[in-house]
Amino acid sequence: MTGQLDGLRAVVTGGASGIGAAIVDALLAGGARVAVIDRATDGSHPDAFAVQADIGDDASVRAAIDAIAAELGGIDTLVNNAGIGAQGTVEANDDEEWHRVYDVNVVGLVRVSRAALPHLRAAGAASIVNTCSIAATAGLPQRALYSATKGAVLALTRAMAADHLREGIRVNCVNPGTADTPWVGRLLDSADDPAAERAALEARQPHGRLVSAAEVAAAVAYLVSPAASSTTGTSIAVDGGMQNLRLRD
Ligand SMILES: NC(=O)c1ccc[n+]([C@@H]2O[C@H](COP(=O)([O-])OP(=O)(O)OC[C@H]3O[C@@H](n4cnc5c(N)ncnc54)[C@H](O)[C@@H]3O)[C@@H](O)[C@H]2O)c1
Repeated sequence: MTGQLDGLRAVVTGGASGIGAAIVDALLAGGARVAVIDRATDGSHPDAFAVQADIGDDASVRAAIDAIAAELGGIDTLVNNAGIGAQGTVEANDDEEWHRVYDVNVVGLVRVSRAALPHLRAAGAASIVNTCSIAATAGLPQRALYSATKGAVLALTRAMAADHLREGIRVNCVNPGTADTPWVGRLLDSADDPAAERAALEARQPHGRLVSAAEVAAAVAYLVSPAASSTTGTSIAVDGGMQNLRLRD
């Protein structure tokens, strides 16, 4: 993407780790200027403008977006990537946990988008990319709460795309399969047999391995680029074929 993102002013939430950090790398490599919003900015790319904020807190989100718009001279691109996980069936989590995960994965995305929209409108041609998940489109065991939040992200992607198309703002999402990030590392570490758990997750994806964060980032870099100017209200699966393919030996 070298040079194809020249002039873009991008914000990436959750940009200090995993998929978000890879998105920051890809956008910088394409020539964009990039800001990170993360609740823990350690590990953020040194060339990115990092602002510590929790997307669960509206005032800190608004302050972060204001600081970024001042630093970059505006915002054309928002990547809503920050998210948290939850495990178990619908019986596993109490009301408080349902509200906590929704508050980050869904309402957090809304808070950042709401704060950024005036800047995106002013940019003339802008885009939002949401990090959704295979969990929005396939039924995965032990992921009831997490899947519900990502289903909401998919629906919001379409609704926001409809609302903002005529304002010059495209809205899309990426749906990663299981990706090799610190988050999945933590999940594997907590399993009884981490090697067996990793093998099971790799086998679940038709291409036989975990998705890399850089592969997800490449899809995001395309979606925010001028090459995707006619692409809105849709999702790109980066899942090794997990959603759509049925292989046989
Ligand atoms: N790793 C996977 O297999 C996978 C698959 C599909 C979708 N996703 C999605 O990708 C996104 C990134 O996941 P990852 O695997 O890179 O995780 P990660 O834990 O490595 O990174 C997430 C980042 O988001 C930040 N964050 C979390 N809550 C925050 C909050 N309230 N305010 C501000 N920042 C916050 C964290 O500090 C961290 O830097 C998430 O939305 C996740 O749902 C991940």
